[in-house]
Amino acid sequence: WAVFEPEIEAIEALKREHDAVILAHNYMTPEVFHGVADIVGDSLALAREAQHVTAGTIVLAGVHFMAETAKLLNPAKRVLLPDLRSGCSLAESITPEDIAELRRQHPGVPVVTYVNTSAAVKAASDICCTSGNAVEIIESLGVDRVIMIPDQYLARNIAARTGVEVITHPGACEVHERFTPADIDDIRSGNPGVTVIAHPECPPNVVAASDFSGSTAQMIDFVGQVSRAGVPDAGGRRKVALITECSMSDNVAAEHPDVDFVRPCNLCPHMKRNTLTAIRRSLELGQHEITLDPTLEAPARRAIERMLAVK
Ligand code: 13P
Ligand code: SF4
Repeated sequence: WAVFEPEIEAIEALKREHDAVILAHNYMTPEVFHGVADIVGDSLALAREAQHVTAGTIVLAGVHFMAETAKLLNPAKRVLLPDLRSGCSLAESITPEDIAELRRQHPGVPVVTYVNTSAAVKAASDICCTSGNAVEIIESLGVDRVIMIPDQYLARNIAARTGVEVITHPGACEVHERFTPADIDDIRSGNPGVTVIAHPECPPNVVAASDFSGSTAQMIDFVGQVSRAGVPDAGGRRKVALITECSMSDNVAAEHPDVDFVRPCNLCPHMKRNTLTAIRRSLELGQHEITLDPTLEAPARRAIERMLAVK
């Protein structure tokens, strides 16, 4: 940790100098998550918190769609993304033209759009959702069919929990699509009694083989439940496997020394661009400032605000 300290101190000083706060996603490395973040959370929490920021600058230690969402919800603030290459395979998988084509094929069916998308795609949608509220958002529409884009796996996982039919788009998260049921079998056979917790961007057969599925914040909460009430093994330890991005286990392990973490993980290269050095430079140079296309701003904000009004 000592190796990070000079950079952490420099960032803290820059935050004061520039009236900035750092909102960090749960996939940040521990030195960002525990070292410099002011607010941490899943996509839903970061969106909600962005609305209430009073500081002049938000540094979004996450990926581009998260910074864009923060700007949409608090447009008077300067929003900085440390590295503009922090994209997302889901956001890149779909365009507004794809939505227009889906609407032509399925007239009258509402479009529910995962927040992991560009402002242009949100603007072409009826309502947004995150992995933390997708069930409630879909049920709030009171329909029996929705177009749910762009993550085909999230859509199918949520459909299985709602009884609402989903029309999907072939997008996938490059991190979560790599997990397989064989991975879960290996974890269970090597770790009797382990609790397997999977993100709903994993393929449905991976989620079906797990004990719980939810957003990154819901996964963290579930670790807390296992820590409090899970059945310990013969050695008095509780074991958890988080089927998601690597840094989650590192961050949660620091808060639950009583739990052993089995670590089958895949790295998100986009999230990992938020190094301490990138964050420091972002504050020093005021880069990279997120701007919005004024023609997309109002419709994109409406889709997010409709979501936040439900949950
Ligand atoms: P959460 O909203 O669950 O934090 O997920 C965001 C994400 O990018 C997962 O890959
Ligand atoms: Fe996108 Fe997947 Fe990375 Fe999340 S983990 S930002 S969904 S590529």
